[in-house]
Amino acid sequence: MDKMNIFAGSANMFLGRKVAEYLGVELGGLERVRFSDGEIFVKFSQNIRGTDVFLIQSTFPPAENILELLFMIDAAKRASARRITVVIPYFGYARQDRKDEPRVAISSKVIAQVLTNVGAHRVLTMDLHAGQIQGFFEVPVDHLYASYIFLDYLVKKQIPDLTIVAPDIGSTKMASFYGKNLNADLVIVNKQRPRPNVAEIETVIGEVSGKNVLIVDDLIDTGGSMVGAAVKMMERGAKSVIACCSHAMLSGQAYEKIAESPIEELVVTDTIPLREDREHSKIKVISCASMFGEAIKRTHLEQSISSLFV
Ligand code: R5P
Repeated sequence: MDKMNIFAGSANMFLGRKVAEYLGVELGGLERVRFSDGEIFVKFSQNIRGTDVFLIQSTFPPAENILELLFMIDAAKRASARRITVVIPYFGYARQDRKDEPRVAISSKVIAQVLTNVGAHRVLTMDLHAGQIQGFFEVPVDHLYASYIFLDYLVKKQIPDLTIVAPDIGSTKMASFYGKNLNADLVIVNKQRPRPNVAEIETVIGEVSGKNVLIVDDLIDTGGSMVGAAVKMMERGAKSVIACCSHAMLSGQAYEKIAESPIEELVVTDTIPLREDREHSKIKVISCASMFGEAIKRTHLEQSISSLFV
């Protein structure tokens, strides 16, 4: 078996260290320099010839995170890595996944194409905004589910009278997974987006009166969808609201919105690091490092990853 080398880009240094710790290896040396004009330079500071290389980098903004990952892939290819797996805990641009109005780009397909054209052999990611995005990559994609991480925590809480809420139609599959595993009913919110980053609730299907509500989503960006759903649930007589979401992008005023909302606790993973300079006392982070570490180990050993989710 050849050697495995794991490197983290600047978007996921903290997570990368935890993944390495799970695997009992050192995070590989990667030199990152910014030239005076802002250009990015990367260099592996160790030999990686013939090795199985894993590059951990989420692709949330700024776009430099994507650029840095592309340069890491190119440097690994030119340094004769045997295989390059890009580990993208949060795959940004995923919401731009279809041409649903004239003259728009399918940006997630562009990112997928560029990553593979530059030299990625495999992709390992978690909770893509839409599972079909896997098809944008012409290389194998392994897809992990944060719901398995959250489930342990939620089961231990033993919340009585629990109802799961999907804050939009796209979250219903995820919500019904929680419903089945937590033995709870399902409520679906139908949301419209009159323009980007604006969410308006049209209808709520199901009853939440007297219930403790768990809202589940893949992503919180501006916080509009999650907080809007939480407020609506309280208006409809819910006893309490907690939430969980895989990717805590939390842009704009999202931290403040969450802090001021009726949400008692928001559980997230560390695919995107929280901003330490913002109020986040209601936010609990459960690390996805062991799940990624295990998936990396199994990829390296050519073992099943889907068996992690049975
Ligand atoms: C949307 O379809 C996603 O699942 C999230 O609900 C959405 O991206 C969250 O965005 P925001 O926090 O800006 O409402």
